[in-house]
Amino acid sequence: MYEILRYPDPILLKVAEPVTDFGPRLAQVIEEMFFTMYHARGVGLAAPQVGISRRMYVVNCGEGQPPESEIALINPEIVSVEGEQYSDEGCLSFPGLYAKKLRPAKVTMKAQDVTGKWFEVTGEGLLARAFVHELDHLDGKVFVNDLEPQEYIKLRKDLEQMKREYKREHARSR
Ligand code: NI
Repeated sequence: MYEILRYPDPILLKVAEPVTDFGPRLAQVIEEMFFTMYHARGVGLAAPQVGISRRMYVVNCGEGQPPESEIALINPEIVSVEGEQYSDEGCLSFPGLYAKKLRPAKVTMKAQDVTGKWFEVTGEGLLARAFVHELDHLDGKVFVNDLEPQEYIKLRKDLEQMKREYKREHARSR
């Protein structure tokens, strides 16, 4: 299982590189990302969150048992968005923090699977939210970026605390 990096780890704040190697190792990494996500009780996990600065993420917003509704998106791009939704959003790199965030209600993505084959997938509601939240991770953006001021104010102290903790842990490991 991977360790999930917490804000403000610099890997979370950098633009990830495209995936170019579709060898057997890739499927193993994706498997391990699902495992890590389930263990943390998340519905989405992007590679940079586990220290891999590559353009890929996994989501499972379904009700069924895995592997039903598991989707791995490699080199994902937005095809189209529709509508709006505004509700609470969280992130495994910010344990316990939530803020209301405006997102499209429906999102169609195109991406490659673990064999390199392109596919399209459409999600609504939570799945649409996960698609764009995780895509942001690949561009070095985290969900606390571009919050509305009243939402940011609620998190400000917790974010300062996370920065202090990160500094402390880093000083200790050096
Ligand atoms: Ni996240």
